[in-house]
Order: sequence, then structure tokens, then C-alpha cells
Amino acid sequence: MTTMIILAIETSCDDTAIALVKVKQGKRPKFQILSNVISSQVKLHQKYGGVYPSLAKREHLKNLPVVFEKAKKEAKNPKLDLIAVTIGPGLEPCLWTGINFAKDIAQKLNLPLIPVNHIEAHILTNFINGKLKNAFPAVCLVVSGGHTQLILMKDIGKYEILGETRDDAAGECFDKTARILGLGYPGGPVISKLASSPDKNIDISLPRPMMHQKNYDFSFSGLKTAVLYNFRTQPHKVRKSKEYIKAVARETQQAVIDVLIYKTLKAAKNFKARTIILGGGVTANKELRKQFKKRVKKEIPHSKLCIPDSNFCTDNAAMTAVAGYFNYLKGLTEKPGKVEANANLRVK
Ligand code: KG4
Ligand code: ZN
Repeated sequence: MTTMIILAIETSCDDTAIALVKVKQGKRPKFQILSNVISSQVKLHQKYGGVYPSLAKREHLKNLPVVFEKAKKEAKNPKLDLIAVTIGPGLEPCLWTGINFAKDIAQKLNLPLIPVNHIEAHILTNFINGKLKNAFPAVCLVVSGGHTQLILMKDIGKYEILGETRDDAAGECFDKTARILGLGYPGGPVISKLASSPDKNIDISLPRPMMHQKNYDFSFSGLKTAVLYNFRTQPHKVRKSKEYIKAVARETQQAVIDVLIYKTLKAAKNFKARTIILGGGVTANKELRKQFKKRVKKEIPHSKLCIPDSNFCTDNAAMTAVAGYFNYLKGLTEKPGKVEANANLRVK
């Protein structure tokens, strides 16, 4: 078979996502996205300032059939060859909704089922256009609402976690900071927007946690706490002022960017990375993308920087299809009955 159609399902957090992707097989496979439907639950979780797993599960159950029909229709109902589904890491009740849905279809259509690691999918979305050549060793930074990991990638499917967050993820820090400032959920996009607009000269200085420690770990909970203390010590009038909120947004964003770039570039230099690969919702951040490009060009111009298009940084199922295809090549097909959720799944 020179081409194949993959149905991919992703429900690891608060997005119900289904994609149909056509793969042109070959040495460097090319992926054509036939449909990529995402039903976001942001409005539902906004009230609570974060994701509630039981509510998210209920929404996934409601959304999955609708999203599936839409994805099939947009793709013009092609014949499916393979089903890929996220099995972890993520919120366990949510993962199971996607897995059970995928199992049903796999059994009905007698198709192979491929389990996918969500973190690996965030990385492999960079291989979507088949342009990434001689990429290894690569250093990958995956930063999302649930994860912050620095990974050494020796090949597709061969990973070593160099470091990770010891407490909050980078995206979680944006979300919690936004909550303190009364900006709603998710925090990343609104903080990025506020940080980019000019403001009066309010000077706020926040810590860059663990930046100069001799490891590749991160810690973002202290940064959020520093925001909270700063906020609490301000008079009510200041706290509510647009200028103050913008200044906190800009400094929080810069603190996160400084730490992420410093540690990633250090790893890239130490491991002589040919490629630096970014992925996860936080890498949709415009300022982070801009500063990463500038610093890589200046400090390690021999390394290639790969960042997905912004709409492929946040959760989607097209990335699940890409990872599913590479797993299929490695023979990682499973009998539907054997596929299980693993909320704490790690890459290796
Ligand atoms: O990858 P993702 O969609 O879901 C998880 O796997 O967690 O990432 C969601 C996270 C949220 O914390 C959100 O605030 C953050 O990504 N995010 C951003 C931006 N867009 C989304 N953070 C900073 N800047 C953005 N533009
Ligand atoms: Zn994600």
C-alpha cells in the first residue's frame, strides 16, 4: 500500500479531537490532513479556572460521535486503514473515552489499533511535511498545560528524558497566573496578548526558577507564587489597573521564556543536537517563538530549529495520526482488547 488513511482520536485533556490523515508512504512519509476537527471545552471549564476531569469526560462522551461524523464528512468519507488513539499521558477518565470509542470502531471495521503517546505526538507533529532530514540527535522541548519536558531524541521512537518540571508545567503557570489576575482560562493566549501591548513603565521583577542549576529540570510553581505575593502586596487600585496586569503578564511570560530557552540551548550544545524540536500548547506563544529563533541563530547556528505551525502546537488529532503512523511502522499494532489508558505514560 503506497498510501493509507489513518483515523486518529485524541481526548487526553479538554479537547475532543478527531483527524483523518492520508499518508504517502516512503523514506520520508508525507501526511495530508483530510480533516482535523477539534471541539474545545474551554467555555465549560472557564467558570472553574481549570479542567475538571469528570466534566471533561462527560463532554468527550457527548462530543465524540459528533466530531467523528464531522471529520468523516469533511474528509469525504474515505475508506479507513488504521486507527490511532492517545493512551496517555493525560487525564485518565478522558483518555478512556477516546480509547473506548476507538476500540468500538476498530472492532466494527476490523482495523488495527495503534496506541499513541501524547508527548511523542507533540514532538512528531514536526515531521508532518516530510522535510526534516538528518534530524538526530535532536533535543525536544515539550511544554503544555500538563507537561514540561526536555527530551533527547536519538531517533523516532528513541527518547531519553533529560529533565522535567518538578511541580507545575509551564502552561499551568500561565493558567494559574491568569487566574490570579482574573483573566480566565486558558491563561497562555490572554497573557501573550496582554504582554505584547505597550504599557506605562511599571517595573516588576520575577524569579527565573532553577535557571542556573546544573540539571535540566524546571520548576514553575515558585514563579506563580511570586506573582501571587506581588499581586497581594499591591493596593487594590493598582491590582485592577490595566498597566499593572500588562506588566505582570509581560514579566511572567519573559521569565518562562528565559528559563525554557536557557535550558534547551544548554542541552542542545551539550548533546550536539542537529535539531531543536519544540511542541505543546506553550510553543504557540509568539514571543517564545521569536526569541527562540533569534537565540538559536545567534548561539548555535548549526542547529535547525523546528516549531510546528501555531494550530498544531495545541492539542489536535493530526499529530496523533502522525505518531500513530510511525508506531505502525515499528509494528506497535495492538489488539483492541489490550489497549489501555496510562495517565502517567512516559516516552522512552
Ligand atoms: O498542548 P496543550 O493544548 O494541552 C496539553 O497537553 O496540556 O497545551 C495547553 C496549554 C495551556 O496551559 C495554555 O495556557 C497554553 O498551552 N497555551 C499558551 C498559548 N496557547 C496555549 N501558552 C502561552 N502562550 C500561548 N499563546
Ligand atoms: Zn498536549
